[in-house]
Amino acid sequence: MRALIVGSGGREHTLAWAIKKSPNVDELYVAPGNGGTSQIAKNVPVTGDDLDALVSFAVENEVDLTVVGPEAPLVDGIVDRFREAGRRCFGPTRAAARLEGSKVFAKEFMKRQAVPTADFEIFDDATKARSYIGSVDFPIVIKADGLAAGKGVIVAASAEEATAAIDDIMAKKKFGASGDSVVVESCLEGEEVSVHAICGGGEAVLLPSSQDHKRIFDDDKGPNTGGMGAYSPVPFLSDDERQTIYETIIMRTLKGMEAEGIPYSGVLYAGLMITRDGPKVLEFNVRFGDPETQVLLPLVKSDMFELLYESAGGNSPESIEFYSDRSAAAVVVASKGYPGSYEKGRVIEGLESIEDDRRVVFHAGTKRTQSGLVTSGGRVLAVTAWDEALSGALGHAYEGVEMVRFNGAYWRRDIGRRGL
Ligand code: AMP
Ligand code: GLY
Repeated sequence: MRALIVGSGGREHTLAWAIKKSPNVDELYVAPGNGGTSQIAKNVPVTGDDLDALVSFAVENEVDLTVVGPEAPLVDGIVDRFREAGRRCFGPTRAAARLEGSKVFAKEFMKRQAVPTADFEIFDDATKARSYIGSVDFPIVIKADGLAAGKGVIVAASAEEATAAIDDIMAKKKFGASGDSVVVESCLEGEEVSVHAICGGGEAVLLPSSQDHKRIFDDDKGPNTGGMGAYSPVPFLSDDERQTIYETIIMRTLKGMEAEGIPYSGVLYAGLMITRDGPKVLEFNVRFGDPETQVLLPLVKSDMFELLYESAGGNSPESIEFYSDRSAAAVVVASKGYPGSYEKGRVIEGLESIEDDRRVVFHAGTKRTQSGLVTSGGRVLAVTAWDEALSGALGHAYEGVEMVRFNGAYWRRDIGRRGL
């Protein structure tokens, strides 16, 4: 069978690595891919926003399964386009992808279906939003409705910060039309956990829990990034809490979407706060997390290609097997300056000796050139390791990180500390 992965980050390299292990896959493409995917698959020079070219490629090359990494092509309707062309594509339809594409849609849906989430108000008028801010307690959370590359959420500690956020989003249109409406919601307290579910045919199987590290500096300081590291599973999430998440969040969402005529398939990634009143949804994503995927897929024993192929065909995932005695950790090595401006084209060395039977390097912003492997993005790669215990996985990952050499390499030193 032939598989195509859309995207160019660490998540896509990890998907390629996992799918490649399937005995059913004999041809693997990544569009556009990176310097790591080119070693295990064929990179195709087409980007995720070019839906016409992706559909043509899949039709011409008789691709059996396409797996989409980033959210934008899903929100733009890539799955609908592939279905019209008679090709299987893993992910939700355009209508279902609104769970991530519109926070207003997601919040109103959760309210209708009694999926636990923070209380909220919605505004499409900046004056009304500002006047509402005058009547609330702080902190409060302001969210731009549409996609904003992970930057559209502001936890405001005061009325001044909240008003500035509303001005940036609604008046100055910092995120364009994504700021036509805002969600203002109460601030939840607790521990943040992510749970990914593979969904199809109205059923779901959960992947292990994980925790991301969004800020650039240690101790969760500094600006938000795409994610600087992750680990899985999260030791403080009990089996009972997992079952509650499965029932009240994942299955309630699937049944609710079905009841509203928008059946959901693909991966549903719930960003959760484990509060004193139980788990509540902070956000839904309709794709795999990055770098969460880098720690989740090394824990999966089942054939990922089979699972995703069945889901994309509208069938229920029957079961999924994990390496239950394994923890995984990923440490992202970034370019100095990220998430602000940074230099590209720095030669990367030292990767040859990192990989072993429980450690692998997943590339993100890397490119192969005549001068060898060079940096081409903010998040450059993630060293991922696994072991029986989280402490062992972290130790092994950090030992690998020390071997990475390029000018301006930066990484956090405290990945996984909360889990220890
Ligand atoms: P989101 O993109 O909606 O997940 O928001 C990004 C980050 O903002 C989350 O990972 C949380 O750290 C924080 N956040 C979002 N909503 C809330 C909330 N209601 N209460 C507290 N923190 C939140
Ligand atoms: N690591 C956060 C995300 O993928 O949304």
